[in-house]
Amino acid sequence: MSANDPTAEAITWATDAVKAALGGRSPAVAVILGSGLGGLADKVENAVRIPYRDIPGFHVPTVLGHKGELVAGAVAGVQVIMQSGRFHMYEGFAAHESALPVRVFASLGVQTLIVTNAAGGIRRAFGPGTLMCISDHLNLTGRNPLVGAVLPGETRFPDMSVAYDADLRTLAKRVALGQGTQLDEGVYCGLLGPTYETPAEIRMLERLGADAVGMSTVAEVIVARARGMRVLGISTITNAAAGISHGLQGHAEVMEVANAVSEKLTRLVAGVIGELS
Ligand code: HPA
Repeated sequence: MSANDPTAEAITWATDAVKAALGGRSPAVAVILGSGLGGLADKVENAVRIPYRDIPGFHVPTVLGHKGELVAGAVAGVQVIMQSGRFHMYEGFAAHESALPVRVFASLGVQTLIVTNAAGGIRRAFGPGTLMCISDHLNLTGRNPLVGAVLPGETRFPDMSVAYDADLRTLAKRVALGQGTQLDEGVYCGLLGPTYETPAEIRMLERLGADAVGMSTVAEVIVARARGMRVLGISTITNAAAGISHGLQGHAEVMEVANAVSEKLTRLVAGVIGELS
């Protein structure tokens, strides 16, 4: 095993610290908040906030729009834990570091993971502000968080044929319909970043079957599946991907659109969580 491998001890240390801070709360659902989508954390009732600096192995985020805390409490009567601040691989984190919070959630007994992200739209019909339920993903980061020793509770070759739970997708569509929110569906492609794509790369990804592209999520979902959690993923399309629009890509635009859609997405995710009780 190399020094870059995830270790069972690192997960235990982080889990023990979070468990101590939770004060007896036992979250059933974990939510990872993407760029500009942190508003969901304000929905949590009786919230306990756990800064990353209090959790061994968690780092303070360097990306604008990402806080560095876990927020635990109730949403619609369901105990949740929200991750406000990701560890992106483009920040220099190994894939297993990027997915450490998911292993901690699994160790806490969380059974359902909801991942949100900001993404560029590849499918022509996906303009800025589109909400896309992730049906499947392409992991083109070149990294996998399961590389290395097989950790307790995981298997060597996890099945990824139904990475995004069919029942949760149906539920999300039903909740969206009830709220008058349009929820599209498509394939998310995860790249390493941090550059946005070239138009040629986007044309390639389109031919490969990607509907949206981003720089997160896939490592987290791989770990969630390895630990037997069911996953719902929702992308906010913040911009047309390179070459599809004539504009240039920028983080300010991503944040602006994500913030504008955040209320609709917050309502949708809270509605889904309420149906999980
Ligand atoms: N490409 C990659 N990641 C992104 C994009 C994009 O166009 N928009 C938001 N995240």
